[in-house]
Amino acid sequence: KRHLISAADLSRDDALLILDTADELAKISERSIKKLPTLRGRTVVNLFFEDSTRTRISFEAAAKRLSADVINFSAKGSSVSKGESLKDTALTLEAMGADAVVIRHGASGAPHRLATWVRGSVVNAGDGTHEHPTQALLDAFTMRRRLGSLDGRKITIVGDVLHSRVARSNVLLLSTLGAEVTLVAPPTLFPVSVDSWPCQISYDLDAVLPKSDVVMMLRVQRERMNAAFFPTEREYSRRYGLDRDRVARMPDEAIVMHPGPMNRGMEIAAEVADSPRSTIVEQVANGVTTRMAVLYLLLGGADLGGEIQ
Ligand code: CP
Repeated sequence: KRHLISAADLSRDDALLILDTADELAKISERSIKKLPTLRGRTVVNLFFEDSTRTRISFEAAAKRLSADVINFSAKGSSVSKGESLKDTALTLEAMGADAVVIRHGASGAPHRLATWVRGSVVNAGDGTHEHPTQALLDAFTMRRRLGSLDGRKITIVGDVLHSRVARSNVLLLSTLGAEVTLVAPPTLFPVSVDSWPCQISYDLDAVLPKSDVVMMLRVQRERMNAAFFPTEREYSRRYGLDRDRVARMPDEAIVMHPGPMNRGMEIAAEVADSPRSTIVEQVANGVTTRMAVLYLLLGGADLGGEIQ
């Protein structure tokens, strides 16, 4: 495959190949080998039109650990502020010889358009409320490391599904990997299309928790919301926030996830986010390894010396 735009583009075999490659790369880095020569001479452009901490830094770290040259482009401070279009920005990058363009954009579908304009690989690093496939891959990687195979695992994703590209990509990828996903949210925070997604839906978090192997909390995206439709912070947290009492309802081995950034005290209590059940910091570390695997496979990196079968 040339691009990674949607988790729906990944077959089970594609997804397992990425996760197994990430496992091999993690083993290499556990042996204190920090840098591999596989993408030497290749150029990866990080094209970020929306803010990011984790995704942007981890793509940069991933490309550098594979010895690629990295160009970081942020819309702030660029000629986008003078009205330059996405297409002209893309053609400028193309002229600079980008082998891969990692794009985050506020418009759903922007990576898909970009892929029609550039010769290199396009990786979707989050487009509007649509998808964030590498987040889903790093989440699946984290779950596999903690729980083993995802076949038949019960994964509960809770919160602002309406605005969440993370939820959509996770539902698509996790169902491909054989997991049973349940989305939990207030009725106003489900998208109309959710009935066609490969998952269950529920409005009752307390009923779902005892049957969950994973509870993934979503950020409440107030910046994308009309305040009139949103419950108060206190009401939201009372019905849908993950606090110590709710964690006590989960099975002993079940884990707590959050893609970040978090609203501590709203969708997740600080003591839960910082507890041993939480994989939040692990998710960030796994993001580098998983994105290394994606870049390696898309750009057809040189052999890793027999490390990858
Ligand atoms: N999880 C995630 O995408 O975080 P950033 O917005 O900081 O990249």
